[in-house]
Amino acid sequence: MSHKPEDPPAPEERGFASPPCYAAEFPGYFGEAPDPRLVEGLNQLLEAERAGARVLAVLRDGLDSRAPVRALLERLQKDEGANAVALYKTIKRLGGIASHETGAFVGKTLAIDGLAARLRFVNKGQEWVVRKIDELLPLVDDAAARSMLDDMRRSHVDNILACTAGLEAGLPE
Ligand SMILES: [Fe+2]
Repeated sequence: MSHKPEDPPAPEERGFASPPCYAAEFPGYFGEAPDPRLVEGLNQLLEAERAGARVLAVLRDGLDSRAPVRALLERLQKDEGANAVALYKTIKRLGGIASHETGAFVGKTLAIDGLAARLRFVNKGQEWVVRKIDELLPLVDDAAARSMLDDMRRSHVDNILACTAGLEAGLPE
């Protein structure tokens, strides 16, 4: 179907019929460049969460399905994966270029011997994420991005505690 140039577009072709209503939803869409420090920080978090999701999948899959710690790793892995998706979408929505890299964390974790030592290292990575979020929050004006980062911070604090409790309860070395 085609229109002559003077034809108004059909409603379903109009897309963003009312730009002001969408301005908050697509801040980068209207040409306002996002703060490069914010995009860089969000990309560092994205790479870290992607690496976390990957390494936790490896650790989870290395365990017997009946191992009690498997449920914990399963939950951590899902959270990391969901965080990576949320970060990717946020970077794009803010008008930034999202990284497709995975952090070096996967190799560093797997170079360590033993599940308990690996999980202690994962927890250090999670603590780094909390510090990084604290550093970035003052740069974030966008309400949805702030709320995403607040949720991510909270889930990291919870997961660090859960992982520490699992380590204290004793995991196979
Ligand atoms: Fe994480």
